[in-house]
Amino acid sequence: MIKTNAILILPENITNKIAAGEVIERPASIVKELLENSIDALSTQITVSIKNSGKSVIKILDDGIGMIRDDALLSLERHATSKISSLDDLSTIKTLGFRGEALSSIASIARLNIISKTKDDETGTQIFIEGGKIRDVKQIASPTGTSVEVNQIFFNTPARKKFLKSDITEMSYISQTFNTISLAYPSIKFRLIKYDKEAVNTSASGDLEIRIGDLFGKDLVKDLIPISREANKMKLSGYISRPSFSLSGRRNQFFYVNNRCVRDKSVNHAIYDAYRTLLPKGRHPTLFLFLDVSPAEVDVNVHPAKAEVRFANQRLVHDFIYHAVFKTLSQHKEQHYKDIFQINNTTTGTAHDALKSGRQVDKEKFVDTTFFKFFTCRDQNSKPSANIDFNMPSPTTQNYHRYSDCVPVGQIENSFIVLENSSNMILVDQHTAHERILFEKLEKEFKESKIEKQKLLFPISVELSHGESVLLENHLEDVNKTGMEVECFGKNIFLIREVPSILEGKDFSALLLEIVEILAEAEKTESFEQIFTETFKILACHGAIRANQNLKHEEIQNLLLTLDKTELPYTCPHGRPISLVFSLKDIKKKFLRI
Ligand SMILES: Nc1ncnc2c1ncn2[C@@H]1O[C@H](COP(=O)(O)OP(=O)(O)O)[C@@H](O)[C@H]1O
Ligand SMILES: [Mg+2]
Repeated sequence: MIKTNAILILPENITNKIAAGEVIERPASIVKELLENSIDALSTQITVSIKNSGKSVIKILDDGIGMIRDDALLSLERHATSKISSLDDLSTIKTLGFRGEALSSIASIARLNIISKTKDDETGTQIFIEGGKIRDVKQIASPTGTSVEVNQIFFNTPARKKFLKSDITEMSYISQTFNTISLAYPSIKFRLIKYDKEAVNTSASGDLEIRIGDLFGKDLVKDLIPISREANKMKLSGYISRPSFSLSGRRNQFFYVNNRCVRDKSVNHAIYDAYRTLLPKGRHPTLFLFLDVSPAEVDVNVHPAKAEVRFANQRLVHDFIYHAVFKTLSQHKEQHYKDIFQINNTTTGTAHDALKSGRQVDKEKFVDTTFFKFFTCRDQNSKPSANIDFNMPSPTTQNYHRYSDCVPVGQIENSFIVLENSSNMILVDQHTAHERILFEKLEKEFKESKIEKQKLLFPISVELSHGESVLLENHLEDVNKTGMEVECFGKNIFLIREVPSILEGKDFSALLLEIVEILAEAEKTESFEQIFTETFKILACHGAIRANQNLKHEEIQNLLLTLDKTELPYTCPHGRPISLVFSLKDIKKKFLRI
């Protein structure tokens, strides 16, 4: 980190190695560059003031190291920076800025008022600059630090001004930028002021969880799981959303490399792969992920807005992230089972044991409030209980109970298993539960190349269209690795000779058609590595117990025990929930018993 500014103009042999390009597109780009400058200047408090979505005023005030008069003047030149001075520095960049272009670009398209003072100087320097031309420089009294006020952006380039979007859109870009940067520096205090009214005021606790709460609300924090993994000199930390929590958009996804927020296709792919069977189509996880790697392992100088990076070993990073996220999601289960049983053992153990053995107990006595915090419904619509509310209490899809430790009460519609434990009534969708079990079984057997198969007594022949036959023929080898044994039998006719044993007695021709669907999709999107997972989803779905199927007591017990052994017992592989939890407390409230 820099201690004092000593700005130099970069020589040409360095500037032509820097990813060049326009960085100022919109008000939010100015906010980004100025925030980064304040952070590089070691500020502890930064205030962003915005008027008219930044179109008329953007002001950033910091308490950082400031600039002496000469540096303040020099900072406005192109390629003027205090952050690098040699080519070698480019490969070990630790500051957010390094190109020396932001202030000069901003100065060229707006009216700027800069005030800066170092702690050793008596007075500060104030500079007015308009469209790149310095209008006035004077010494004035000011606190240590820097304030940069940007007025009337694009005043001299009306054509570009026309490209700005509505106030609401530009302001949402600014908020996103503000959130993105302030998330990465929880020990710096950030304030956001819109039209003289405070919109955000964070603490400076240094704690990421508190920062997330400050920016996104404390409710979101409840839906997050901490992640922390280290391997091969890489470290991944932060928070990811629980499998039962998802959003329809990607706006709550933040990924940082060495504290710089970046987009990276391969990292994205790794994360979605880990969540693959947990989220329904079109749903997205919330992510606050920080990857630390040695600066030499990552090139930050590949994108003008520094929004992308290049890893020396892309594959290694991809695999590390996939495993870190996957392991965290699967361990999440154990973690919460443990939490619950610790509490249960000390306070509600007796009730629980009694329930299991079928004895009648006064359950009321054993209601434990701490236990509830894991099950509380997020019932946004619950009204004060003055009126009688005939609606069912809202269930949660949280899975913090060990299924096999609950007592099966029965089945509804021969489709949903009803369970109870000392605090909850739980509904389990027998089909999605069994799908999850079969899916993980197939995947495991596939990895060990020993999918349990079953030879059909009479091979089944399926006739496909010409297009379908071509697809299937092309991928026959892959299909036959999934436990199927399909053979081409002349013109557009295929014989199914063997199937995974979980499919005993099912409709195989319908199944084959669905597999062909997967192949078509894989061809269309050129994502062939998904063929196996997608096929296992279909096989699991076909093999699983259906709805409307009566289950014997032992069958239910067995299902629950096996479900507990799965790695991700939250949703079926397509992302549909396995269980709904209704807290008894809520049920009693509805009956006006408490
Ligand atoms: N808020 C600030 N506090 C102290 N120095 C600053 C501040 N903003 C800019 N500077 C100085 O001005 C220089 C130029 O800034 P900029 O044009 O953003 O380029 P870069 O950040 O890439 O170096 C910086 O290197 C830094 O020395
Ligand atoms: Mg900068």
